Amino acid sequence: MPVAYLNGAFLPVEQAQVSVLDRGFLFGDGVYEVIPVYSGRLFRLAHHLRRLSVSLDGVRIDNPLSAGDWSAMLNELVVRNEGSDQAVYLKVTRGVDVKRDHAFPDGIRPTVFAMCSPLTGPRDLDSEQGVCAITLPDIRWRLCNIKAITLLPNVLLRQQAIDAGSVEAILINNGLAVEGAASNLFIVKDGMLVTPPKGNMLLPGITRDLVLELAAGNAIPFREADIPESALRSADEIWLTSSTREISAVVTLDDRSVGSGRPGALWQRMSRIYRDYTNAVRRGEAD
Ligand code: PDD
Repeated sequence: MPVAYLNGAFLPVEQAQVSVLDRGFLFGDGVYEVIPVYSGRLFRLAHHLRRLSVSLDGVRIDNPLSAGDWSAMLNELVVRNEGSDQAVYLKVTRGVDVKRDHAFPDGIRPTVFAMCSPLTGPRDLDSEQGVCAITLPDIRWRLCNIKAITLLPNVLLRQQAIDAGSVEAILINNGLAVEGAASNLFIVKDGMLVTPPKGNMLLPGITRDLVLELAAGNAIPFREADIPESALRSADEIWLTSSTREISAVVTLDDRSVGSGRPGALWQRMSRIYRDYTNAVRRGEAD
C-alpha cells in the first residue's frame, strides 16, 4: 500500500486524514510541488524546494520545515514507497481553523502532506506521434507564479482540452500565449527556441529552466520573449514541458498541423539531451 506523510508521521495513504476545517479544504489555501523521482533519486530537489519557499512567501505561510528536513522526509518517503520511478506530490496548507473565516487565524500550524504516485512520463506513443492541443482564454488569477493548490481554472481548462480530444490547453492572455493549463510553453521558429519570460502570468517551471540550461549547454539558440498568438500559430514546433510529462511535441493546434505535423527535429534533439540528463540523474551524476 502506498505510504504517505502527514504532519510528522508516515502512514498508509488511505489512513491519512485531515480535518474538514483545514483551510486547504475550505479555501484551497495552500501551495504544492510535484517532484519527479528517477531510480529513487529526487530530481532537482533544491530547485523545487526553492520554488516552494517562494510560493509559501507569496501566500504568507511560514515554511514549516527546513530544506534539510524537507529533503530527509521526502527521501524517506521515496524509500518507503519502494518504487524507483515516482512522482512526489507535496502540499502545505495554512492549517486547521476552528471555524470558517477568510481572514488568517492566529496561531495555527500549517498542514504538511506528501505522497507518491507512479511517474508515467511521456507515453511512448505521444513521444513518437506528438500530441494535440487547443488554445483557450486564460481565465486564471494574476499570481500564476505561485504554485497554489487552488486549481479550479486549470482543472476546467484541462478538461475542456480533453473534451476536445486534446491533451492540453495553451492559454492566451492579452494576445500572448503564456503556458499550458499544467505545463510551460516553448516554440521553435527558424531554429530559435523561444519561451515566455518569467512573471506573474506563468509558473516558473523547473523543467522549463532545465530545458533552457540544456539549450545553453548544447549551443541551441534560445530567447525568453513574449509569444504573440500569431507567432504560436506560425511556429515550426511547439513544445510543452512539465515534471510529469517531460517534453511533449504538439503536432496539432486547434485542428491544424504544427510544422510538418510530426515532432520536429529540434524536439528530437532536445528529447535525447533531456533523456541523457535524466539518465545521469539515475546514476547519481546530476541532480
Ligand atoms: N504542474 N505551468 C503550470 C500551470 C503547471 O501546473 C506546471 C506543472 C508547469 C510545469 O512546471 P514543472 O516543470 O515545474 O513541473 C507549468 C504539475 C506537474 C502538476 O500540477 O501536476
